Amino acid sequence: MDYVKLERGDDGVAVLTIDRQEKLNALDPQVVEEIGQSLLELESEGPRVIIVTGAGEKSFVAGADIAAMSTMDPLEAKRFAEIGHAAMALLDKSPIPTIAAVNGFALGGGCEIAIACDIRIAAENALFGFPEVGLGILPGMGGTQRLPRLVGPAIAKELIFTGRRIKAEEARMIGLVNHIVPQGEALKAAKEMAAEIAANGPVAVRHAKAAANRALDVDLISGLEYEADQFALLFATEDASEGMGAFVERRKAEFKGR
Ligand code: COA
Repeated sequence: MDYVKLERGDDGVAVLTIDRQEKLNALDPQVVEEIGQSLLELESEGPRVIIVTGAGEKSFVAGADIAAMSTMDPLEAKRFAEIGHAAMALLDKSPIPTIAAVNGFALGGGCEIAIACDIRIAAENALFGFPEVGLGILPGMGGTQRLPRLVGPAIAKELIFTGRRIKAEEARMIGLVNHIVPQGEALKAAKEMAAEIAANGPVAVRHAKAAANRALDVDLISGLEYEADQFALLFATEDASEGMGAFVERRKAEFKGR
């Protein structure tokens, strides 16, 4: 891999860093392929949490690579969107919780990566936006679909139609960002939250993610049926016996992830 680095911690927390600093971590097709391959690798290894971040303090990801896109024909553009969609699906549809540690520019494709993650922690200098229509294109890595689901259609449309950039505080107010931390501390804060998640029953967390995802796709009754099934399934796991048993016996649970 040239542009994506993976670190696997002993604590079950993996960090995927997009590292193409000379272009503010902009995404050309190779970078997107590498993100997808790395996430596939991680999915098979099964860490408890995946954190996604950008190298350096200036930029998370400054968007899709405009120079690379400027020479694409429609078929190449379609292929680029498809590999982007596949990679983003590995963030939000994978059973492993994902946290974006947003350490600077999160524009266009960068914002799309952030919103494909389950949770976003932003440094004070983070800047979010969808500048695509100003380039005569549109967000093609899931932005038009995920942003309305996250912040509601009116705010999403305003951001996508105007291309206006917003600071971390406004992003937090509209629900785009969970927490803001001082500049340089997004990854540290993401690791702290990841440790909290990793301390819980891993099978339970995975099923909880699947159930919460279902809420966005189906009607309430179907979602509740799904939740009841997932709830019941967990009672067949050792982790559930351990977790509830540990409470009753007043000791700390030792989860095995099965
Ligand atoms: N695609 C391709 N290259 C990009 C890029 C992108 N999205 N974002 C930054 N870069 C490159 C610049 O071309 C420059 O390369 P160079 O040094 O070879 O000329 C390098 O990264 C540094 O960027 P620069 O513009 O000099 O930094 P800056 O601090 O002055 O501005 C931004 C930072 C993010 C405001 C500016 O780079 C920008 O507007 N980028 C495009 C953002 C965008 O529209 N993204 C959505 C694309 S769909």
